[in-house]
Amino acid sequence: AASLFVRGSLAGKKVVITAGPTREAIDPVRYLSNHSSGKMGYALAEAAAEAGATTILISGPTQLKTPARVTRIDVISAQDMYDASLSAAEGCDLFIAAAAVADYRPAQVAEQKLKKGSEDSITLTLIKNPDIVASVAALPRRPFTVGFAAESENLLEYGRAKLVRKQLDLVIANNISDSEIGFNSDDNAVTLIDHGSTQELNQRSKHQLARELIALLAHKITAPAH
Ligand code: CTP
Ligand code: CA
Repeated sequence: AASLFVRGSLAGKKVVITAGPTREAIDPVRYLSNHSSGKMGYALAEAAAEAGATTILISGPTQLKTPARVTRIDVISAQDMYDASLSAAEGCDLFIAAAAVADYRPAQVAEQKLKKGSEDSITLTLIKNPDIVASVAALPRRPFTVGFAAESENLLEYGRAKLVRKQLDLVIANNISDSEIGFNSDDNAVTLIDHGSTQELNQRSKHQLARELIALLAHKITAPAH
């Protein structure tokens, strides 16, 4: 519940959060991207700072204001986000990957604007981007590492598969086939998946959800058991 939220519950902790989309250049004027607004990651950064954490927000291009007391590092591409994340994550206590990272980027970035030719169809070859959250989870002194799973079907199965494959401590799974929640909306509803159990947090504002998630995470990373 929101009443769990305690100012100071993350005092002395360092939290790193990724947010927003990435842009993968095709040529000097074109890119591949997605519809992520960044709202969930920014709300988490705001809540982490309110809870007293030293908070670093690594952000792709968004229209959002930097929350108070949050250090924001702006990036464009997945590779930039990877570099910034791996250096910021070193020695942090909690890493939350809320960004919608492009899975692939064009294999070649044209130096000049591509010209329309006589062909009726052309092919763009894409290569895989590095997995940021899995790389953070593989650090020798890993932080408590949290990933999101945006799924349009098989939420629990795919969410749990990400937990295991990326060696995460927690997956926050959300159903993006429901247009009232996720990506561009102001609300979200999620299922938390960890190595023991699952827990549902039903629809509420991203702001409220962020505070509840931060309260839960503060408890997990400061509880003696961890
Ligand atoms: N993620 C990441 N780096 C990537 C891709 C994803 O850090 N290159 C993170 C996201 O920020 C999110 C989690 O991994 O926290 C899951 O992202 P998602 O797109 O749901 O998973 P993928 O592993 O990319 O699988 P798919 O897109 O096929 O579902
Ligand atoms: Ca993906």
